[in-house]
Amino acid sequence: MTTAETMKQAETSDNSSREWIEKEHKYYQGTFKRNLVMERGEGVRVWDADGKVYLDLVAGIATNVLGHAHPAVVQAIIEQAQQLVHVSNLYINKRQVDLAEQLYNVSGGMRSFFSNSGAEANEGAIKLARKYGRVNRNGAYGIISMDRSFHGRTLATTAATGQKKYQDTWAPLPDGFKQVPFNDLDALKAATDEQTAGVLIEAMQGEGGIHAASTEYMQGLRAWCDAQNLILICDEVQAGMGRTGKFFSWEHMGIRPDIVTMAKGLAGGVPIGAMLAAPRADIFEPGDHGTTFGGNPIACAAGVATMKTILGEDLVGHSAQLGDYLDKRLHELAEKHSGMMSDIRGLGLMRAFDLAEPRAQDVMDRALERGMLITNAGPSTIRFVPPLIIQQSDLDEAMGKLDAALAAL
Ligand SMILES: Cc1ncc(COP(=O)(O)O)c(C=O)c1O
Repeated sequence: MTTAETMKQAETSDNSSREWIEKEHKYYQGTFKRNLVMERGEGVRVWDADGKVYLDLVAGIATNVLGHAHPAVVQAIIEQAQQLVHVSNLYINKRQVDLAEQLYNVSGGMRSFFSNSGAEANEGAIKLARKYGRVNRNGAYGIISMDRSFHGRTLATTAATGQKKYQDTWAPLPDGFKQVPFNDLDALKAATDEQTAGVLIEAMQGEGGIHAASTEYMQGLRAWCDAQNLILICDEVQAGMGRTGKFFSWEHMGIRPDIVTMAKGLAGGVPIGAMLAAPRADIFEPGDHGTTFGGNPIACAAGVATMKTILGEDLVGHSAQLGDYLDKRLHELAEKHSGMMSDIRGLGLMRAFDLAEPRAQDVMDRALERGMLITNAGPSTIRFVPPLIIQQSDLDEAMGKLDAALAAL
């Protein structure tokens, strides 16, 4: 069969989920365990290939911050595609500069480097901290990160990720990484040595189960980094873009990092990563780092539109407000399902609760049957990272479905 005939066959074949699942198993590597075929989305809802609609509280794992098919993002992509799709980083592209300017303004004067993902943004941050250590701390190169953290799937970010399950298979991992308990300043101080170049932390841990660092800890950490001439890197890949009710989660703790990494929601669902550096750490020179696609015009146009919408419509304040409402509704549910739910926690629209038993998958399955997508963080934790455009009525609907899902366990 010619390529054209194969493509024609793909276009005309059965649209049912069952057929697509079979084809996925045949043609796609077994990296993901999944059985739901998504067809389209609009706002806070997605439709599968069989036409069933779901209320989407996963949002592409904290990525579709403006929901699905937001007109501002769609329009920006179309217009940019008609003008310039790619030019490489040999040349300046205007949307890249526009997005860097927006990030400069929200970060209080940090300059950007764009990549394609959160892991890549963290790789850039690790390289920049290492360069700082080489130049300004007698050749130091080590990165201290936190237990329960998640920083990506490349080898270096796997080495920085404080969860054994992500590390074990890939030994030997790159040298120069160690983890310490989260929120424990003494442990961090004890782990710091002459080889340490910087500290990498999610001020609000995502994959590790929605745990916020305390203000006291983050302020102590900032002071320690200043005193020891270390670079403080905040990974805002999941918690940034207003998700916690502040644009960056570290704003809750009244500190400012030297390097910030972002990705996920930055371009409303189009692949992008960003590594922002404050003047102290901003020491990359031509040739130190690079990328073919990072900061691509389409991704940056989508990023500019996403940023404009978030700031213009105060979705950061909305996230804080709706997050409080979600918290209240979760507490009501916990009273009703007493003994089943505990430790309701989080900030803004980044929330979680624990189940008495490791049955997160069962809760997700029961929710799915009732037309709702929710996700977990480990076997006993249900996590909420919905689009920031979600409304109170959507959350009411979600709590109704969760109530029914818990009752059906
Ligand atoms: C805090 C954090 N950092 C980094 C990453 C990795 O991002 P990506 O999957 O875009 O490489 C993630 C992904 O979940 C994350 O939550």
